[in-house]
Amino acid sequence: MKKYLLTSALPYSNGYLHLGHLAGAYLPADLFARFKRLNSEEVLYVCGSDEHGVAITIAAEKEGVTPQDIIDKYHFANKSAFEGLNISFDIYSRTSNELHHNTAREFFADFIKKGFLEKKESEQFYDETANMFLPDRYVEGICPSCGKEDARGDQCDNCGAYYSQTELKNPISLISKKPPLLKKTVHWYFKFGDFQDFLENYINQNEEAWKDNVINQTRSWLKAGLSERAITRDLNWGVKIDNIEGVDPEEAATKRLYVWFDAVLGYISATKEYFGNDDWKQWWQSADTDYIAFIGKDNIVFHTLIFPAMLHARSDENNPYLLPKNVPAHEFLNLEGQKFSKSKNWSIDLKDFLDDFKNPTYVDVLRYSIAMSFPETRDADFTWKDFVARNNNELASIFGNFINRTLQFSHKNFEGKIPKLSGNYQDFDNQWNNAVEQNQFDQLESNDKDLLEKVIAELSSVQESYNKYRFRDAITSSMNIARAANKYFNDEEPWKSVKSNPELAAKSLFVCCQLAYNLSILLSPIIPNSAKYIMDLFSSENYTGESNGKLKQATNYWEKITKLNFKSGTAIQKPEIIFGRLDDSFADKQMQKLGDKNNNSSKEVFENVITIDEFFNVKLRTAKVISAEKIKKSDKLLKLIVDLGGEQRQIIAGIAKYYSTEEIVNKYIIVVANLKPAKLMGELSEGMLLAANFKKGLKLATFDGEIPLGAEVR
Ligand code: 2FM
Ligand code: ZN
Repeated sequence: MKKYLLTSALPYSNGYLHLGHLAGAYLPADLFARFKRLNSEEVLYVCGSDEHGVAITIAAEKEGVTPQDIIDKYHFANKSAFEGLNISFDIYSRTSNELHHNTAREFFADFIKKGFLEKKESEQFYDETANMFLPDRYVEGICPSCGKEDARGDQCDNCGAYYSQTELKNPISLISKKPPLLKKTVHWYFKFGDFQDFLENYINQNEEAWKDNVINQTRSWLKAGLSERAITRDLNWGVKIDNIEGVDPEEAATKRLYVWFDAVLGYISATKEYFGNDDWKQWWQSADTDYIAFIGKDNIVFHTLIFPAMLHARSDENNPYLLPKNVPAHEFLNLEGQKFSKSKNWSIDLKDFLDDFKNPTYVDVLRYSIAMSFPETRDADFTWKDFVARNNNELASIFGNFINRTLQFSHKNFEGKIPKLSGNYQDFDNQWNNAVEQNQFDQLESNDKDLLEKVIAELSSVQESYNKYRFRDAITSSMNIARAANKYFNDEEPWKSVKSNPELAAKSLFVCCQLAYNLSILLSPIIPNSAKYIMDLFSSENYTGESNGKLKQATNYWEKITKLNFKSGTAIQKPEIIFGRLDDSFADKQMQKLGDKNNNSSKEVFENVITIDEFFNVKLRTAKVISAEKIKKSDKLLKLIVDLGGEQRQIIAGIAKYYSTEEIVNKYIIVVANLKPAKLMGELSEGMLLAANFKKGLKLATFDGEIPLGAEVR
């Protein structure tokens, strides 16, 4: 029996996830997982936090805490945000687990044994001040390809070029802000090039089924030719490679696995963790499994080339790993026409959305509006206006309206029950179900026939679209069924027939009530909270495709969508309005939260606040620079004599890179006057200047005119 193994890219646990992430790799996989589960297919949906690599150590430095603090903070925050958004993982693990470390080490050890790794010495940037080799993201410089300044160490954000850090012009260490040295270091390289033919063959086989964006990027890598890739780093955070046969323990001591080498293996270790026994092999090593890797476009080659090469390299008779059957990568989602940017506060974090909107219906509206704007073939845009429009014009006006009018009508006229069929319609339910099962529509009247034919036709499009990862189409076709339901209600005119032909009205409502339930199954993948709410009104099964501990559901819920599932007399509770209307001011209010002016999310949070008295302990005074000279053997320090009114002092200041001696003389500045004197490069320093320190430099706090010297600054 076919099984579906689904993975979503493991997000780095170095920050809060935002809507762009949701649209890239998580919501699409969740829709697919729910769709398959509702179809009683066997599904395992695996994810977890990616907790290694430089992304984590940089975040730790930025927040002034340890990497462990960082991964704990964001792992749990992101896990809980996914729960809030109803992302239905069967397991959400983390790569800091011991089981994961062991799995990654086992792959490394196996590759050493099989000769797929080669140890080589190369020159890499080294920061002498920090005493460390600099990972790519710790170096910036001029892009060797387009000349852009401040380009990252591995890839240029401006022109997209990939290069090695040593190709950067005028490199600067982001730690000491100094040019780094080149120093020799040893690393292990995966012989990726050996897999060129194998991978070309693999891609050829999948060419037709895979999306163009995925094939194009993969092909361009294959065309350029694959070459060996370093899979270790000089870093003290990540999976260790000591104690492995064939690896010199001393050489290995300061190395860790490159984060991408272990991250992709996180899918396997999370599966192992889920089962806790060898059953994981029935997923990763079974020909019955279709493995689908859901990702964003920045992860494509890792999943179409590198991971497949690793799985193939690891495979042998005892361990025949399967490769991704499809990698339906999404492009990027923008926000109100701009890229998501945390630093510009141009973001909507999942956590903030959940904090702001406690009513679970909003989660459904968000899922719906994002899915209808999925970046399936090109970058797409999320806007609050669209959110409001999708809510008002589709969820409320089409789906919500049908549910509401049907159930209200049944309460007003049929005691809140599915009406009893009688007279001409006595046998209607059998006729309908026969039509579904045997394709015989002749016994149905025209409205019923039109409706059922439409449901069957659209449902087949829904099915096909889900299977081709065309989620926007799947949902559009699903909504077309809701539209058809409304049309049926209109065409049947039960508000007239309830008086003139009660048997007909009963039949009309018999159909509409059941449709309300069936629509909730149909829309379960996309709006699971509202779907469950409706199912509960029927006091019936309320499965919406979530992970429920069973990898295969005994019931095929999807099959119920075309059928009449309830008997006459089934009670249905009266609904509240599910999707209330939102007005334009809703969108305006949300928009105001975006952007620098109201920068909430990038607001600095200070752990240690001080009292006003503590602040007054620092004695700040106005002063004037009288003279300045360079200090020999230091390119950083200047020796200044400053006048504080009643006295003159010598201050050694680390500003030589930013101010010449001529520039600084006569400036009116602020001095910390009660700082304990200290010696710097053998020179006495009796105070400190105040200056703003920022990425590209430093500027002294100065006054724009003359000022009495020695005045208190507060
Ligand atoms: O781009 C990212 O966020 C990576 N953490 C994705 C890793 S995908 C997989 F390899 F785990
Ligand atoms: Zn460039």
